[in-house]
Amino acid sequence: METLIGTDIDHAAALLSRGEVVAIPTETVYGLAANALDPDAVLRIYEAKHRPRFNPLILHVPSIKAFGLYAHEIPEACFQLADAFAPGPLTFLLPKRADVPDIVTAGSDLVALRIPGHPVALELLSRLSFPLAAPSANPSGYISPVTAAHVLQGLNGRIPYILDGGPCTVGLESTIISFRDGGIRLHRYGAITPDDIKRVTGVYPEEAINAHNAPDAPGQLKSHYAPDHPLYMGDVKTLMKQHAGKRIAVISFMHGYSNPEPSVSFVLSPAGDLHEAARHLFHALRNADAADVDLIIAEEFPGEGLGWAINDRLSRAQFIHRT
Ligand code: TXA
Ligand code: MG
Repeated sequence: METLIGTDIDHAAALLSRGEVVAIPTETVYGLAANALDPDAVLRIYEAKHRPRFNPLILHVPSIKAFGLYAHEIPEACFQLADAFAPGPLTFLLPKRADVPDIVTAGSDLVALRIPGHPVALELLSRLSFPLAAPSANPSGYISPVTAAHVLQGLNGRIPYILDGGPCTVGLESTIISFRDGGIRLHRYGAITPDDIKRVTGVYPEEAINAHNAPDAPGQLKSHYAPDHPLYMGDVKTLMKQHAGKRIAVISFMHGYSNPEPSVSFVLSPAGDLHEAARHLFHALRNADAADVDLIIAEEFPGEGLGWAINDRLSRAQFIHRT
């Protein structure tokens, strides 16, 4: 199959309406989309990504009005958060309605719903009569794509079309939350932070991150976002000493490192802006992985705001977590 890249929303809509998979831009990362109500189409997503069938998919919808079609028992806090942050990088886990095929939720009775904050994604969704199931558009386990070219690198020949919406402006996958007994649970760190959620709802979310590689646990796998080169995260100077004599790519926040000089260096935001750093993170990880080095060393980011999400991705990309 030949994979084309283009900006033709009608073409993408026509392919999706025929049950094909299409890579689509969102503000977080590129998604690999299919008609969520067509189990055969959804199956093609799992096949193209080689994604384990136990790992469920996010349902993308054009507006909050669609939530009631696919979920029920939607708490007030969900509407408050959607008012504040949707369309945007926030995904809600809610009790699913029977219309959502089991293959989308991998058998769970919760469905993940998100309104993507990208004009092309919203325009596409508004032209379709069905929601889009979409995981990130990378081969399972590799770094999520934040440009159309990244999608092509990973899925060339496996999908017919990549809808190009430019580089992703957030650059990290959405925050994922669920609701229980008046509380809010945080399943994945993203650009919407625990403080953002507290500000809007009055409730500080409780961390519910899955740190296991257990195949029966839906949600995040411990090893993910993994470059092919071994990656070590922590204090850069200490790690560079430990790996003296090797060719090293360093990924850091504001400052570069010298003495010893790394072979390649990626400073994600010289101005110290965590949003900018997040936007550059997956570019840097891919470029570090493509460099002629023995290993990658990444600095631990500040434990505030988007720093949590960046540290979460880097820690999952680490060598020690690979099985
Ligand atoms: O920003 C994003 O969320 C991107 C864009 C494309 O929307 N999507 C994305 O999808 O990151 P994916 O599949 O790479 O990550 C979705 C995460 C997975 O860890 C999955 O296990 C979890 O959401 N998830 C989805 N549905 C779930 C459910 N019903 N119950 C528990 N976890 C769920
Ligand atoms: Mg993913």
